[in-house]
Amino acid sequence: MTFDRSLKIAPSILSADFAAFGAECRAVEAQGADWIHVDVMDGHFVPNLTFGPQTCAALRPHIKGVMDVHLMIAPVDPYIDAFAAAGADIITAHVEAGPHIHRTLQAIRAAGCKAGLALNPGTGIDAVEYLLDSVDLVCVMTVNPGFGGQKFIHSQIDKVAALRRMIGDRPIHIEIDGGITPETAPLMRRAGADVLVAGSAVFKGGSVENAGVYGNNIRAIRAAAG
Ligand code: DX5
Ligand code: ZN
Repeated sequence: MTFDRSLKIAPSILSADFAAFGAECRAVEAQGADWIHVDVMDGHFVPNLTFGPQTCAALRPHIKGVMDVHLMIAPVDPYIDAFAAAGADIITAHVEAGPHIHRTLQAIRAAGCKAGLALNPGTGIDAVEYLLDSVDLVCVMTVNPGFGGQKFIHSQIDKVAALRRMIGDRPIHIEIDGGITPETAPLMRRAGADVLVAGSAVFKGGSVENAGVYGNNIRAIRAAAG
């Protein structure tokens, strides 16, 4: 992965057909997705359950580009090697998931992956300040993690702008996760984000058989973001 701040759209497979993940990944990539965002939930850190490293390993051959794994689990550390072995390019852990986030980020890099740090809406960017040398991506949650299709939280716009200033020239991606649509995408792009995760706004109205809709949805977000 080479670093750049160009706009990247990362469909979240949380809104895909769970019985057809491989085909869904191939379909959204063929329709212009830059990264594939994979939401792992444990029913403990967040009030929902999805899947684990075995599903990620099964998905890997169906993803040509970046597999972006968002861990909404606690604890994180016992599972890092399994997600790395499953082929994750980026592993993102929540700062709220445990007391030793620096150790977690180090372990992710030691496993050969890019290290991402996710912040819940109530967490300030001071949580990032002393971790700038240890992160490759900061994920700002613009909904409370756990479910797709929630409403975008506007207070996060100023947070992203402040984070962008804090990051400066460092090669750190700013990813936005939750409630991204053609209406909210430009707000976040202007504030300094380069990766926009979108679940419902990409998958709505389409299917593997009717994947052109995914392409239209991705282009609408990209065009609006500018
Ligand atoms: C929420 C997940 C998101 C979610 C986004 O906990 O981390 O990735 O799927 O879904 P939308 O785009 O529908 O808000
Ligand atoms: Zn996510």
